[in-house]
Amino acid sequence: MKVALASDHGGIHIRKEIANLMDELKIDYVDFGCECETSVDYPDYALPVAEKVASGEFDRGILICGTGIGMSIAANKVKGIRCALVHDTFSAKATRAHNDTNVLAMGERVIGPGLARDIAEIWLTEKFEGGRHAGRVGKITEYEEKNL
Ligand code: RB5
Repeated sequence: MKVALASDHGGIHIRKEIANLMDELKIDYVDFGCECETSVDYPDYALPVAEKVASGEFDRGILICGTGIGMSIAANKVKGIRCALVHDTFSAKATRAHNDTNVLAMGERVIGPGLARDIAEIWLTEKFEGGRHAGRVGKITEYEEKNL
């Protein structure tokens, strides 16, 4: 699995934590910043990462900002992206198993590094259950094909 990772200035510390986690798990990833010496705009990081996942260049994306909200809104504008904003471990597992999410967003001003790490590890390792959930996800894809 290849993961595209990015944050704005509000998510630098958790981004570093997630990079360390992926090093430990031996997951291939590219860190797309930000360098963040000054404040930056989250869409400038969310949209390129989402496009890289949608195109198949990367399998998954992880995006961190202050709340995770801006990153998730922006990523979900890209056709083919199912981005979940997750701040608990139950949802991390469920959103992989049920929604087959391909991008994870988290907010550094909402949760601490330990929980973010647990969420990311679950989200990176949990499998999509398929079955009835595949039909539901398929309806979203069908909508995108017709309307976007
Ligand atoms: C930046 O101050 C903040 O707005 C951003 O990190 C994020 O929380 C947006 O949703």
